[in-house]
Amino acid sequence: MDEEEKEDKEAKKQKKSEDKEMQLTDLPGIGPAVAAKLESAGIYDLMSLAVMNPTELGEISGVSAAVARKAIQAARKMLNLGFMSGDEYAEKRGSVLYITTGSKNLDALLGGKGVESRAITEAFGAFGSGKTQLGLTLAVNVQLPPEKGGASGKCVFIDTEGTFRPQRIRQIAEGIGANPDNVLKNILVARAFNSDHQILLLDRISEMIKEGEPIKLMIIDSLTAHFRAEYSGRGQLADRQQKLNRYIHNLMKLAEQHNLAVYVTNQVMANPAQMFGDPTTAIGGNIVGHASTYRMYLRRGKQGSRVAKLIDSPNLPDNETVYYVTEAGVRDEEK
Ligand code: GTP
Ligand code: MG
Repeated sequence: MDEEEKEDKEAKKQKKSEDKEMQLTDLPGIGPAVAAKLESAGIYDLMSLAVMNPTELGEISGVSAAVARKAIQAARKMLNLGFMSGDEYAEKRGSVLYITTGSKNLDALLGGKGVESRAITEAFGAFGSGKTQLGLTLAVNVQLPPEKGGASGKCVFIDTEGTFRPQRIRQIAEGIGANPDNVLKNILVARAFNSDHQILLLDRISEMIKEGEPIKLMIIDSLTAHFRAEYSGRGQLADRQQKLNRYIHNLMKLAEQHNLAVYVTNQVMANPAQMFGDPTTAIGGNIVGHASTYRMYLRRGKQGSRVAKLIDSPNLPDNETVYYVTEAGVRDEEK
């Protein structure tokens, strides 16, 4: 073999390892046209496809259920999804990121380090209970380096109520000694005008991550308001719940795929006497069923304090703790 031939072989080898990242079109039954359809629906990589079910994939791409099933199976095989050994699992868990709430008490309530990635943290409570303020504080804190309680990442803030206030972000940024302009630049805000728009924005987030935006936190304030307003009629409850469940499912998928933390807010009526049963039960239903979900009930406490109660956590006790909303955001003390 002469020198040139050798080089050629070497180059081919190199090329092969560069191509290691498999494409959608590497899957059986997925040609360029189908791949293009999938991409326009926000499915860019094998992982996004592997976590779908055949019906869903069929609806989006137009392929038959049999083809969809084969493609999903192939994607799962290529990605080596399925069971893993305990140490592998521990390693994967190890990549979980945490974002401090700004309060040690609140962090402790959530298991020690604050809001975590690959999970949804839900705050529910009456108006003025501090749900948005906690979101704004997290939007700043996610930008901190890990040793300071952040994830060195950007935040996406989906604002359904028009309550995002840049000026408030500036105050909170100053509270941790950060440059307010830089902090604001790292928060990508979108106003969602109705529930369909709110749903659509998730695809945009997938794209941004794909384009390389280091998004580590996704905030939806409020998760439920549009759904509640649009599906308020008699007999619409089941529809609303179904849409909301699907949305939450998609949030969870994004969180899993991209190792994101998700923080959502959910308003409940101020007067518990108006409600039947447990006053801490959120309207719009519980975000049920997933192991890594944290639900906190927020309310005003004595002398300007706030109280957070953890509800139904799969691996933490249902504790209560006290914190404050200050000019610098969420804190353990009033000043
Ligand atoms: P809804 O969105 O209406 O359901 O309420 P929410 O739970 O999102 O309430 P939000 O987080 O907006 O809390 C509002 C409360 O936070 C105010 O009533 C104040 O008590 C407190 N707050 C907001 N900004 C500041 C601030 O700059 N300094 C201090 N000390 N407190 C603030
Ligand atoms: Mg709010």
